Amino acid sequence: MRSLIDILELDVNEIKELIEKANDIIANPAKYSEKCRGKKLATLFFEPSTRTRLSFEAAMYELGGNVLGFSEAQSSSAAKGESIADTAKTTSCYADIIAMRHPKEGAPLVAAMNASIPVINAGDGGHNHPTQTLTDLLTIQREKGRLDNLTVGFCGDLKFGRTVHSLINALSRYENIKFVLVSPEELKLPSYVKETLKKNNLEYVQTTDLDSVMPELDILYMTRVQRERFFNEEDYLRLKDSYILRPERLNTAKADLSIMHPLPRVNEISVEIDNDPRACYFKQVLNGKYIRMALILKLLEVE
Ligand code: NCD
Repeated sequence: MRSLIDILELDVNEIKELIEKANDIIANPAKYSEKCRGKKLATLFFEPSTRTRLSFEAAMYELGGNVLGFSEAQSSSAAKGESIADTAKTTSCYADIIAMRHPKEGAPLVAAMNASIPVINAGDGGHNHPTQTLTDLLTIQREKGRLDNLTVGFCGDLKFGRTVHSLINALSRYENIKFVLVSPEELKLPSYVKETLKKNNLEYVQTTDLDSVMPELDILYMTRVQRERFFNEEDYLRLKDSYILRPERLNTAKADLSIMHPLPRVNEISVEIDNDPRACYFKQVLNGKYIRMALILKLLEVE
C-alpha cells in the first residue's frame, strides 16, 4: 500500500504513466466511470480549500466512487483535541483512501504512518503540495509537449508557497530546466529547497525584477502571497502587491509563454489577462481533476 506525501516518492516514469493515464481519461471518460464503484474517498481538510477538495471529490465521483469528510477543523474531533494519528486510524475504518490538508507541516505524513489505507497530502502548511504539482506537470506537458528544455519563472511568495516547493523538486529531475526565481528579498525560496537545485547542479537565477527576466521565460508560474503563514499583518500588507501581472508587462514575453497559477488569485494577475491565450490557470483547474483521478486509480491499485 502506498501513500503520496512528497512528489519525489513518484519516480519520473511513474509521473509519465500518471500523465498518460490522465490524458486517456480526458479522451475516454466513459471507460473510467465505474472504476471505483463501491470505494470511498475521505477528504480531511483542516484548512480552507476550494479547488483541491472539490477536485478530489469530483475525481472520485467521476470514477463512480463515493466521498465523505469534513472541510474545516472546527467541525472535526480535532476541535476536541484528537490527534492526527487517531483521526487517521478512525478514518481507515470508514474509507478506502484519504486526502488530507493540514496547516502543520508533516501532518499528512503522521496520518500515513498511522492509517491502514493510502493517504494523499493535499497540502501541508508551507511545505509541500504534491497533487498540485501533478496538476502543473500535466498542464506543462499538454501546453508545451515536454517536461524538459524549459525556462521556468516562479514569481511571488517563494518562501511559503508550497506549490512552488513541490514543483521545483519535481522539475529538478528533467533535463535542461532553467529556474528563474523572482520574489521580494523577504519571500525568497527557503534554503532547504534551494539545496535541491545546488545538489543537482541545476541552473538558477534569483532576482527581484520580473520585467528583466520576462523575455526568457517559457513558463511563468505566478503565486499569491500566503497571508495565513505570516507572523504579522503589517509584513503581509507591505509585500502583498509586490508583483501584479498586467497586460503591458507581457509586451516583452514570448508569444508562446504559458502563464500558470495554482489559484486562488488575489490580485497578482489582472483579470484582463484571463482572455490572453497564454493564460493557463483555469486549464490547470480542469487538469487537476483528471490527474487526481489517475492518482486515485494508482493508489487504490485499480486496473
Ligand atoms: C494552493 C495551496 O493551497 O497551496 N492552492 C491550491 O491548492 N490550488 C495555492 C495557494 O493557496 O496560494
